[in-house]
Amino acid sequence: MINPALIPLLRAAKDVVVLTGAGVSAESGVPTFRDAMSGLWAQFKPEELATPEAFMRNPKLVWEWYAWRRKLVSDVQPNPGHHALVELERRVPRFTLITQNVDSLHQRAGSKNVIELHGNIRRVKCSAENKVVENWQETKDLPPRCPNCNDGLLRPDVVWFGEMLPRRELEEAYDRCKDAQLIFSIGTSSLVHPAASLPSYGKNYGAKIVEINPTETPLSRDADFLIQGLSGKVLPELVKMIWNI
Ligand code: OAD
Repeated sequence: MINPALIPLLRAAKDVVVLTGAGVSAESGVPTFRDAMSGLWAQFKPEELATPEAFMRNPKLVWEWYAWRRKLVSDVQPNPGHHALVELERRVPRFTLITQNVDSLHQRAGSKNVIELHGNIRRVKCSAENKVVENWQETKDLPPRCPNCNDGLLRPDVVWFGEMLPRRELEEAYDRCKDAQLIFSIGTSSLVHPAASLPSYGKNYGAKIVEINPTETPLSRDADFLIQGLSGKVLPELVKMIWNI
């Protein structure tokens, strides 16, 4: 149920930030991380797959797990929640989409101003030089070696546990939250920092927080509007209520 008091606020807002997490892609068929039965971390151990140490121990296993996920996300389509966020961006004068997702579904839906906080699974980088590699080939021995330095193993350009977030993206995300009038937190468990602290940081500078999630999170107590539901249903409904599209 959408609180009608949100409608005039969103209609008048000149600066809106949306922070998204895995839940936004769930209705496209991409598993989340922490949902009890279907989440990736219910089946796989993050310390064996998503840390620099795991990659040093078993680079082939890590490479293949990400190759499986890369294929999975390329085989699915953006859902009505992603599309509604594109409509929102078209209508709000300053709109920033900050995502923890690495699946490119926002961009494939047509979102333009996207800050990727945790990287992108479609990109690879050299683990020795820490530089993105555009052209690379699958090899018999996995992971492939960097074609530029001929030495470092290639790895997905995503942020692993224990690694820093990309500095420019994180700084921009904080700046945008500082200026925002409304900050939406959608489909994220709000457990992984620093991303999880962004909405409350913005609230300290005067933003109102809107949370969209079927379950409560640590952010819920800070939220001015709590919409309990699936983003693929709630977001199109919200856009329809405001702009009748
Ligand atoms: P989580 O799996 O931790 O949380 C997903 C959230 O989405 C949960 O709160 C669900 O209740 C909610 N959810 C599920 N289906 C939904 C739907 N259809 N609509 C709206 N919400 C829904 O995923 P994240 O919060 O994104 O990091 O996880 C944050 C980071 O932890 C990820 O970026 C990843 C992970 O480990 C790294 O890999 C570095």
